[in-house]
Amino acid sequence: MASRRSLQLVLNKIKSSGSRPSVRCFATATEGIASPPASSSDLIHLEHDYSAHNYHPVPIVFSHGKGSAIWDPEGKKYLDFLSAYSAVNQGHCHPKIMKALVEQAQTLTLSSRAFYNDKFPVFAEYLTKLFGYDMVLPMNTEKGEHIAGFLFEPIQGEAGVIIPPDGYLKSVRELCSKYNILMIADEIQSGLARSGRMLACDWEGVRPDIIILGKALGGGVIPVSAVLADKDVMLCIRPGEHGSTFGGSPLGSAVAIASLQVIQEEKLAERSDEMGEELRRLLRRTQQQFPDIVMEVRGKGLFNAVELISKALFPATAYDLCIKLKERGILAKPTHSATIRLTPPLSMSLEELREGAKAFHDVLEHDLPKLVKEKPKTGEPKEQNQCDRCGRNLYG
Ligand SMILES: Cc1ncc(COP(=O)(O)O)c(C=O)c1O
Repeated sequence: MASRRSLQLVLNKIKSSGSRPSVRCFATATEGIASPPASSSDLIHLEHDYSAHNYHPVPIVFSHGKGSAIWDPEGKKYLDFLSAYSAVNQGHCHPKIMKALVEQAQTLTLSSRAFYNDKFPVFAEYLTKLFGYDMVLPMNTEKGEHIAGFLFEPIQGEAGVIIPPDGYLKSVRELCSKYNILMIADEIQSGLARSGRMLACDWEGVRPDIIILGKALGGGVIPVSAVLADKDVMLCIRPGEHGSTFGGSPLGSAVAIASLQVIQEEKLAERSDEMGEELRRLLRRTQQQFPDIVMEVRGKGLFNAVELISKALFPATAYDLCIKLKERGILAKPTHSATIRLTPPLSMSLEELREGAKAFHDVLEHDLPKLVKEKPKTGEPKEQNQCDRCGRNLYG
């Protein structure tokens, strides 16, 4: 217990100081590596033995990806319904983004902003004009600390895809304007076409003072994030006040330009809107068939969730259902409680989307009754507030 507390103290200290722990390495990196493990099972065990257990993954090893498809080391194909928490809106290994990555990687990767480079200004102009803001602060971490205001997600992702009531965003805008508070939209997960609009705030035609973008800005390839604002806000930051070593790198800028071009050229916002309607229509049909199991199907665009009734699943859990989905070739992950998030790449085909919806139906019809019968009934069915990433119970 004491050591757990000390570790937490150290982690908090590292977090607040923004530094990394220094790790002394006494063996050369390759000394301990035997022949590379090939099977999914070996790789899962290797990670379990040598990496911190800060996530609670579905046991599938990604080895190769293209568009919405993923293959494991054994060559089995799956459809991705998570998209790396919406970082892969454009689909895995999009050829245009890969080309930009490789070409820039062979030319120049990093200048630091102690100097200029020939990609970042082009990216800065493109991004600010696309979203109608004066300036951008490039980052490789995502939140500015110097600006006070109302920071919110227009659609909450990790909380379980929570859609605010109609008029909420407009009310926030009005209140922020009235009391002179900065309205800061975290569009890291909801933005860049995920919700069926370029920004989730576009659903109510609301213009925040600051927008934070990340994830799909790097096309699922490298971390790129950015803060957009007008000059009155952005010019409050003076040289030396907010640095980012990799922010504005030529590699990040080239990848981000290609990632945005793909979203525009392939009309991914419109696609997300239409495909989302179809996905929810199919899922609601399943809900009608299983009203005692499915509490709600909700979403905007391809940002969707199915909320299940924990008691009806007991002793099975949403995580168990995701394992069954995986066995049927569909990759999804529960968010808090008994909610399964369905957020495929926006480039997914209609047939693939239907495959996902059918698998969800089949899991409820065929797998769940077996799970309920076979899994030992220990404890009580309880409303859990589990962390999506690590599976830990969040509130006691
Ligand atoms: C809304 C939102 N903001 C910020 C983050 C943090 O992003 P990162 O892990 O890339 O720093 C996430 C990650 O899921 C997110 O969903």
